[in-house]
Amino acid sequence: MEVVIVEDAVAGGELIAGAVAELIARKPDALFGVATGSTPLPIYQALAAKVAAGEVDTSRLRVCQLDEYVGLPAGHPESYRAVLKREVLEPLRVPDSSFLGPDGSAEDLPAACAAYERQLADAGGVDLQLLGIGTDGHIGFNEPISSLASRTRIKTLTERTRVDNARFFNGLDEVPRHVITQGIGTILQARHLVLLATGAGKAEAVAATVEGPLSSLVPASALQLHPHATVVVDEAAAQQL
Ligand code: GLP
Repeated sequence: MEVVIVEDAVAGGELIAGAVAELIARKPDALFGVATGSTPLPIYQALAAKVAAGEVDTSRLRVCQLDEYVGLPAGHPESYRAVLKREVLEPLRVPDSSFLGPDGSAEDLPAACAAYERQLADAGGVDLQLLGIGTDGHIGFNEPISSLASRTRIKTLTERTRVDNARFFNGLDEVPRHVITQGIGTILQARHLVLLATGAGKAEAVAATVEGPLSSLVPASALQLHPHATVVVDEAAAQQL
């Protein structure tokens, strides 16, 4: 695992956007795995600036989703599909037809999970997967005690994650209890994992990920198993390293 400490979130965003731009230059039809949450926004903003300046050609880029809420009504603005459309697809000029994601409103959710696993495999696998980290060490929506070999499946959110994510909804009651997430085993199949963590609130989770034992109690510690994992942290998130 490579750990890079940067000054702040903007510097982290620039650094990672540069790595994504290099990937796209090398492989224009790369499958780019994106994450939600506030942390990756500087990455998307820096990439969008490169696209607008004509430095990056995303016309053949494919984008895929890490996780999704279950049961939000179609078109809900906080479904991760809607969020990613707003924050990634539109600014990066990637059409909906180049976007892969699990169907969180499917009637048969286990079938939707299996279908998403197949879609990712048929697409040739993820080239670069961006990750954030939950304050409890989760990646995607793999909450503590997720199997390190897990595949895409339904998970129940912990109270802590629901409270953390309540800021995107009109209160805690509106935050879904269930989600679909790529499993840890699924995430580990991406060719390059890039985790960005910023702010003092992530310092404990970052230390456990980087320096703690490999443990299903800290799902992000699974990055220790990956041959090409990069952890980018700002100074505040690095303070317990
Ligand atoms: C959610 C997402 C994760 C994300 C986490 C942290 O739980 N499913 O992918 O890493 O939030 O979000 P933030 O970056 O806003 O702290």
